[in-house]
Amino acid sequence: MNTQFLKPQIAESFSRAAVSYDGVAQLQRDIGHQLLNQLPHSSSEVVMDLGCGTGYFAPLLAEKFKPQQLICLDLAQGMLAYAREHRATPNALWLCGDAENLPLADSSIDLIFSSLAIQWCEDLPSLFSEVARVLKPGGRFLFSTLGPDTLYEIRESWSAVDCFQHVNRFISFSQLQASAEGYLQQVSLRQAPEVLLYDQLRELTAELKGIGAHNISAGRPSGLTGKARMIAFKQAYEQFRRSDGQLPATYQVFYGEYING
Ligand SMILES: C[S@@+](CC[C@H](N)C(=O)[O-])C[C@H]1O[C@@H](n2cnc3c(N)ncnc32)[C@H](O)[C@@H]1O
Repeated sequence: MNTQFLKPQIAESFSRAAVSYDGVAQLQRDIGHQLLNQLPHSSSEVVMDLGCGTGYFAPLLAEKFKPQQLICLDLAQGMLAYAREHRATPNALWLCGDAENLPLADSSIDLIFSSLAIQWCEDLPSLFSEVARVLKPGGRFLFSTLGPDTLYEIRESWSAVDCFQHVNRFISFSQLQASAEGYLQQVSLRQAPEVLLYDQLRELTAELKGIGAHNISAGRPSGLTGKARMIAFKQAYEQFRRSDGQLPATYQVFYGEYING
């Protein structure tokens, strides 16, 4: 089992970020919209948003699939509290739970949508096994997640400074494919890089903090990151500054569609 993530810390970090998340999550919204656009409008009786965060996609899922029940599940109570208050959605049930141990009956869901959440799972085969268990026969699992090249600029810049793990490690395309094997059938799996541009590095680090995704991993440095090390990190990141003067931050995004059949 991959023990790099600690669930209570993930839940706590995202709960704390609930209020700031929507203000800095433009990329997350864009990726979720791309994922949503993969499927045509249709009616699905029971739909789940797995790792729903602030609930941004709940009204869009309700509008697109007209479910009789929309289960919005997340590990972080703080995210759910924010979502309940800000995203009133017909037929929505806001549920605290873990994607790897779903509090749901077998064969009960028609469609699972999950954008940028499953990269936080410790054990992807158990996630896919849970998804297969709760999906009805013929049900679909539509997800986006992040690959190992995500934020490689941060990883490489820190590696010039210390030996700690400053960026979460995400699994490769082939590991992702292998994790689903035996549980679900692949309809499509593709990858697409997204590059965000910043004038200053602090804009990127503030954004990561606002999202709640700043380095929750077992290999992270403990205590404060010293001033001298921060300066060295910033200097190392300058190697990536482009000719147009902008600093890039790369996200390697995987988009998957799987079917239970
Ligand atoms: C980057 S946010 C994405 C939120 C939303 N899907 C979006 O696209 O805006 C990741 C979310 O996944 C949730 N999460 C992380 N691990 C989880 C798990 N094991 N089970 C359920 N939710 C989880 C986090 O609490 C957080 O709200």
